[in-house]
Amino acid sequence: MPITAAILTISDSTHRGEREDTSGPAILKLLQEKGFTVISRDASPDDQGRISATLIQMSELAQFVVTTGGTGISPRDVTPEATAAVCEKQLPGIAEMMRAEGLKQTKFAPLSRSICGTRGKSLILNLPGNPKGALESLSLVLPLVSHALDLLNNKTSH
Ligand code: MTE
Repeated sequence: MPITAAILTISDSTHRGEREDTSGPAILKLLQEKGFTVISRDASPDDQGRISATLIQMSELAQFVVTTGGTGISPRDVTPEATAAVCEKQLPGIAEMMRAEGLKQTKFAPLSRSICGTRGKSLILNLPGNPKGALESLSLVLPLVSHALDLLNNKTSH
């Protein structure tokens, strides 16, 4: 069975229609190439309550929920806080891996406060907002997703 995924682009300007969403489509393409079934895509403003509410809805629909944007330290960046508020467990190793590997591509990688965590039987992953950073980070995590979901579903045989 293909893994179901949802993508949430988080950006005030994209939500207002003032900036084209380039990361969302790039993530969609990569996930589809890797065999995921993307069942939901949305854009949210940088509003903590709205992001959390959308993540709750998406995690009820999809096994793998990916966000892009809002992970930095600009005044409006609240994606990690909104994600942490709805996650039951965090996977700091995944976030650390993205920053450590990202550092090999750009000295700015540690400016992302991305987190990864679980809610119910779903995995939620924050990615940086720029398409290059989002794809680099997602590519690192994809090989772990299937096993992480098995563990979440208590399938611990391998
Ligand atoms: N990580 C990777 N791999 N590649 C990148 O280009 N950009 C960084 C960082 N992480 C980047 C990256 C930059 S410049 C910022 S400001 C932070 O992600 C936060 O980005 P965001 O606020 O758009 O989420």
